[in-house]
Amino acid sequence: MGVLLKVEDLTKSYFSGKNENRVIKGVSFEVEEGEFALLMGDSGSGKSTILNIVGGMDKATSGRVFILGSNILDYSDKQLNEYRRTTVGFVFQSYNLIGNLSALENILLVNGNNVASARKLLDDMGLKDRADAFPSELSGGEAQRVALARAMSKAPSLLLCDEPTGALDYENSRKVISSIVSLNKNEGITILMVTHNPAFLPLADKVIRLKSGWIESITVNDSPLSVSELKW
Ligand SMILES: Nc1ncnc2c1ncn2[C@@H]1O[C@H](COP(=O)(O)OP(=O)(O)OP(=O)(O)O)[C@@H](O)[C@H]1O
Ligand SMILES: [Mg+2]
Repeated sequence: MGVLLKVEDLTKSYFSGKNENRVIKGVSFEVEEGEFALLMGDSGSGKSTILNIVGGMDKATSGRVFILGSNILDYSDKQLNEYRRTTVGFVFQSYNLIGNLSALENILLVNGNNVASARKLLDDMGLKDRADAFPSELSGGEAQRVALARAMSKAPSLLLCDEPTGALDYENSRKVISSIVSLNKNEGITILMVTHNPAFLPLADKVIRLKSGWIESITVNDSPLSVSELKW
Protein backbone atom coordinates (compact mmCIF):
# COMPACT_ATOMS: atom_id res chain seq x y z
CA MET A 1 0.00 0.00 0.00
CA GLY A 2 1.15 3.50 -0.75
CA VAL A 3 1.49 6.49 1.51
CA LEU A 4 -1.64 8.64 1.56
CA LEU A 5 -0.50 11.33 4.00
CA LYS A 6 3.06 12.42 4.58
CA VAL A 7 3.73 15.21 7.06
CA GLU A 8 7.27 16.58 6.93
CA ASP A 9 8.96 18.94 9.36
CA LEU A 10 5.71 20.67 10.18
CA THR A 11 5.83 23.71 12.43
CA LYS A 12 3.18 26.09 13.68
CA SER A 13 3.74 29.21 15.72
CA TYR A 14 1.38 31.71 17.23
CA PHE A 15 2.61 35.25 17.67
CA SER A 16 1.59 37.84 20.20
CA GLY A 17 3.51 41.01 19.52
CA LYS A 18 7.14 39.93 19.22
CA ASN A 19 6.67 36.73 21.18
CA GLU A 20 6.63 33.55 19.20
CA ASN A 21 4.89 30.54 20.72
CA ARG A 22 5.89 27.50 18.70
CA VAL A 23 3.22 24.86 19.33
CA ILE A 24 4.26 22.37 16.59
CA LYS A 25 8.02 22.01 16.59
CA GLY A 26 9.00 19.98 13.53
CA VAL A 27 6.68 17.01 13.24
CA SER A 28 7.03 14.24 10.63
CA PHE A 29 4.92 11.12 10.16
CA GLU A 30 3.18 9.08 7.50
CA VAL A 31 -0.21 7.41 7.19
CA GLU A 32 -0.58 4.71 4.57
CA GLU A 33 -3.60 4.13 2.40
CA GLY A 34 -6.14 2.06 4.33
CA GLU A 35 -4.47 2.65 7.68
CA PHE A 36 -6.29 3.43 10.94
CA ALA A 37 -3.93 5.77 12.77
CA LEU A 38 -4.35 7.33 16.21
CA LEU A 39 -2.91 10.66 17.27
CA MET A 40 -2.52 10.81 21.04
CA GLY A 41 -0.91 13.10 23.59
CA ASP A 42 -1.61 15.40 26.51
CA SER A 43 -3.99 18.30 26.27
CA GLY A 44 -2.20 21.15 24.49
CA SER A 45 0.37 18.89 22.80
CA GLY A 46 -0.84 20.01 19.35
CA LYS A 47 -3.16 17.24 18.15
CA SER A 48 -6.02 19.43 16.92
CA THR A 49 -3.58 21.90 15.39
CA ILE A 50 -2.04 19.13 13.28
CA LEU A 51 -5.43 17.72 12.31
CA ASN A 52 -6.68 21.15 11.25
CA ILE A 53 -3.58 21.79 9.14
CA VAL A 54 -3.87 18.37 7.48
CA GLY A 55 -7.54 19.14 6.84
CA GLY A 56 -6.70 22.40 5.10
CA MET A 57 -8.53 24.39 7.79
CA ASP A 58 -5.49 26.05 9.36
CA LYS A 59 -2.20 27.38 8.01
CA ALA A 60 1.18 25.94 8.95
CA THR A 61 4.20 28.10 9.68
CA SER A 62 6.57 25.81 7.77
CA GLY A 63 6.90 22.25 6.53
CA ARG A 64 5.10 20.09 4.00
CA VAL A 65 1.86 18.08 4.04
CA PHE A 66 1.66 15.70 1.10
CA ILE A 67 -1.60 14.03 0.14
CA LEU A 68 -0.87 11.36 -2.46
CA GLY A 69 2.31 13.23 -3.29
CA SER A 70 1.02 16.78 -3.61
CA ASN A 71 1.84 19.36 -0.99
CA ILE A 72 -1.40 20.98 0.21
CA LEU A 73 0.56 23.76 1.93
CA ASP A 74 1.38 25.04 -1.58
CA TYR A 75 -2.27 25.02 -2.67
CA SER A 76 -4.08 28.17 -3.74
CA ASP A 77 -7.29 29.03 -1.86
CA LYS A 78 -9.24 27.54 -4.75
CA GLN A 79 -7.29 24.25 -4.65
CA LEU A 80 -7.66 24.16 -0.87
CA ASN A 81 -11.43 24.59 -1.15
CA GLU A 82 -11.57 21.76 -3.64
CA TYR A 83 -9.40 19.61 -1.38
CA ARG A 84 -11.71 20.22 1.60
CA ARG A 85 -14.80 19.61 -0.51
CA THR A 86 -13.69 16.34 -2.12
CA THR A 87 -10.76 14.69 -0.39
CA VAL A 88 -10.99 15.03 3.40
CA GLY A 89 -13.87 14.33 5.75
CA PHE A 90 -14.07 15.70 9.30
CA VAL A 91 -15.72 14.55 12.45
CA PHE A 92 -15.41 16.63 15.61
CA GLN A 93 -16.15 16.10 19.28
CA SER A 94 -19.18 18.40 18.97
CA TYR A 95 -21.19 16.96 16.14
CA ASN A 96 -21.75 20.28 14.34
CA LEU A 97 -25.13 19.23 12.97
CA ILE A 98 -27.61 21.91 11.89
CA GLY A 99 -30.27 21.91 14.60
CA ASN A 100 -33.33 22.75 12.53
CA LEU A 101 -32.60 20.13 9.84
CA SER A 102 -33.36 16.43 10.23
CA ALA A 103 -30.62 13.79 10.16
CA LEU A 104 -31.41 13.15 6.50
CA GLU A 105 -31.47 16.86 5.62
CA ASN A 106 -28.11 17.40 7.34
CA ILE A 107 -26.62 14.97 4.84
CA LEU A 108 -28.57 16.28 1.85
CA LEU A 109 -27.12 19.71 2.57
CA VAL A 110 -23.63 18.50 1.68
CA ASN A 111 -24.20 15.61 -0.71
CA GLY A 112 -25.89 17.40 -3.59
CA ASN A 113 -29.44 16.42 -2.51
CA ASN A 114 -29.07 12.74 -3.36
CA VAL A 115 -31.80 11.21 -1.17
CA ALA A 116 -31.06 7.56 -2.02
CA SER A 117 -27.39 7.95 -1.23
CA ALA A 118 -28.10 9.86 2.01
CA ARG A 119 -30.52 7.12 3.16
CA LYS A 120 -27.95 4.46 2.34
CA LEU A 121 -25.31 6.27 4.41
CA LEU A 122 -27.71 6.47 7.36
CA ASP A 123 -28.58 2.77 6.95
CA ASP A 124 -24.89 1.92 6.96
CA MET A 125 -24.58 3.72 10.30
CA GLY A 126 -27.52 1.76 11.72
CA LEU A 127 -29.77 4.83 11.64
CA LYS A 128 -32.42 3.75 9.16
CA ASP A 129 -35.21 4.70 11.57
CA ARG A 130 -33.70 8.02 12.66
CA ALA A 131 -33.56 9.75 9.26
CA ASP A 132 -36.36 12.19 10.10
CA ALA A 133 -35.23 12.92 13.65
CA PHE A 134 -33.78 16.32 14.52
CA PRO A 135 -30.38 16.55 16.24
CA SER A 136 -32.04 17.41 19.60
CA GLU A 137 -33.95 14.11 19.38
CA LEU A 138 -30.81 12.02 18.83
CA SER A 139 -28.56 10.45 21.45
CA GLY A 140 -24.95 11.64 21.38
CA GLY A 141 -23.93 8.43 19.64
CA GLU A 142 -26.66 8.75 17.04
CA ALA A 143 -25.75 12.39 16.40
CA GLN A 144 -22.09 11.46 15.98
CA ARG A 145 -23.02 8.69 13.53
CA VAL A 146 -25.06 11.20 11.52
CA ALA A 147 -21.93 13.38 11.47
CA LEU A 148 -19.95 10.35 10.26
CA ALA A 149 -22.52 9.63 7.55
CA ARG A 150 -22.32 13.28 6.49
CA ALA A 151 -18.52 13.17 6.35
CA MET A 152 -18.73 9.97 4.28
CA SER A 153 -21.15 11.52 1.80
CA LYS A 154 -18.25 13.00 -0.17
CA ALA A 155 -16.45 9.63 -0.21
CA PRO A 156 -13.29 11.12 1.30
CA SER A 157 -9.88 9.52 0.82
CA LEU A 158 -8.96 10.58 4.33
CA LEU A 159 -11.25 10.86 7.34
CA LEU A 160 -10.01 13.09 10.15
CA CYS A 161 -11.66 12.60 13.54
CA ASP A 162 -10.93 14.89 16.48
CA GLU A 163 -12.00 13.17 19.70
CA PRO A 164 -15.16 11.78 18.09
CA THR A 165 -16.12 9.94 21.29
CA GLY A 166 -14.98 12.70 23.64
CA ALA A 167 -18.53 13.73 24.53
CA LEU A 168 -20.01 10.24 24.66
CA ASP A 169 -20.75 7.68 27.36
CA TYR A 170 -19.52 4.09 27.17
CA GLU A 171 -22.37 2.64 25.09
CA ASN A 172 -22.37 5.47 22.58
CA SER A 173 -18.57 5.51 22.37
CA ARG A 174 -18.65 1.84 21.57
CA LYS A 175 -21.18 2.30 18.76
CA VAL A 176 -19.30 5.23 17.27
CA ILE A 177 -15.91 3.52 17.38
CA SER A 178 -17.49 0.43 15.79
CA SER A 179 -18.77 2.58 12.95
CA ILE A 180 -15.39 4.24 12.50
CA VAL A 181 -13.54 0.92 12.47
CA SER A 182 -16.07 -0.48 10.02
CA LEU A 183 -15.52 2.48 7.64
CA ASN A 184 -11.84 1.66 7.80
CA LYS A 185 -12.06 -2.12 7.48
CA ASN A 186 -15.05 -2.44 5.13
CA GLU A 187 -14.85 0.72 3.02
CA GLY A 188 -11.07 1.04 3.10
CA ILE A 189 -11.21 4.64 4.32
CA THR A 190 -7.90 5.90 5.72
CA ILE A 191 -8.44 7.36 9.17
CA LEU A 192 -6.43 9.69 11.38
CA MET A 193 -8.16 9.98 14.73
CA VAL A 194 -7.33 12.03 17.80
CA THR A 195 -8.36 10.37 21.03
CA HIS A 196 -7.64 10.46 24.75
CA ASN A 197 -9.10 6.99 25.22
CA PRO A 198 -6.34 4.36 25.70
CA ALA A 199 -8.97 1.62 25.28
CA PHE A 200 -8.81 2.25 21.52
CA LEU A 201 -5.07 1.55 21.26
CA PRO A 202 -5.39 -2.15 20.29
CA LEU A 203 -7.68 -1.23 17.37
CA ALA A 204 -5.17 0.95 15.56
CA ASP A 205 -2.61 0.06 12.91
CA LYS A 206 -0.41 2.94 14.03
CA VAL A 207 -0.18 5.15 17.10
CA ILE A 208 1.49 8.55 16.86
CA ARG A 209 2.24 10.13 20.23
CA LEU A 210 2.82 13.84 20.62
CA LYS A 211 4.46 15.62 23.50
CA SER A 212 4.54 19.44 23.66
CA GLY A 213 4.61 19.82 19.89
CA TRP A 214 7.13 17.03 19.26
CA ILE A 215 6.68 13.44 18.18
CA GLU A 216 7.30 11.32 21.24
CA SER A 217 6.91 7.95 19.49
CA ILE A 218 5.34 6.21 16.53
CA THR A 219 4.38 2.58 17.01
CA VAL A 220 2.99 0.16 14.45
CA ASN A 221 0.62 -2.59 15.53
CA ASP A 222 0.85 -5.63 13.27
CA SER A 223 -2.25 -7.36 14.58
CA PRO A 224 -4.93 -4.83 15.52
CA LEU A 225 -8.07 -6.14 17.24
CA SER A 226 -11.62 -5.83 15.98
CA VAL A 227 -14.12 -3.95 18.17
CA SER A 228 -15.79 -7.23 19.21
CA GLU A 229 -12.44 -8.55 20.48
CA LEU A 230 -11.85 -5.40 22.49
CA LYS A 231 -12.12 -5.92 26.24
CA TRP A 232 -13.39 -2.58 27.43
N1 LIG B 1 -5.61 30.37 18.16
C1 LIG B 1 -4.61 30.12 19.01
N2 LIG B 1 -3.83 31.10 19.46
C2 LIG B 1 -2.80 30.86 20.32
N3 LIG B 1 -2.48 29.63 20.77
C3 LIG B 1 -3.23 28.60 20.35
C4 LIG B 1 -4.33 28.78 19.45
N4 LIG B 1 -4.88 27.56 19.20
C5 LIG B 1 -4.16 26.68 19.92
N5 LIG B 1 -3.17 27.29 20.62
C6 LIG B 1 -2.18 26.63 21.48
O1 LIG B 1 -1.55 25.60 20.73
C7 LIG B 1 -1.27 24.48 21.56
C8 LIG B 1 -1.81 23.22 20.93
O2 LIG B 1 -3.23 23.28 20.91
P1 LIG B 1 -4.13 22.09 20.35
O3 LIG B 1 -5.53 22.58 20.35
O4 LIG B 1 -3.57 21.62 19.08
O5 LIG B 1 -3.92 20.98 21.48
P2 LIG B 1 -4.58 19.54 21.62
O6 LIG B 1 -3.45 18.57 21.68
O7 LIG B 1 -5.60 19.34 20.57
O8 LIG B 1 -5.26 19.62 23.07
P3 LIG B 1 -6.65 18.99 23.61
O9 LIG B 1 -6.35 17.55 23.93
O10 LIG B 1 -6.92 19.79 24.86
O11 LIG B 1 -7.70 19.17 22.58
C9 LIG B 1 -1.87 24.80 22.93
O12 LIG B 1 -0.84 25.22 23.77
C10 LIG B 1 -2.82 25.93 22.64
O13 LIG B 1 -2.93 26.77 23.74
MG1 LIG C 1 -7.69 19.14 20.61
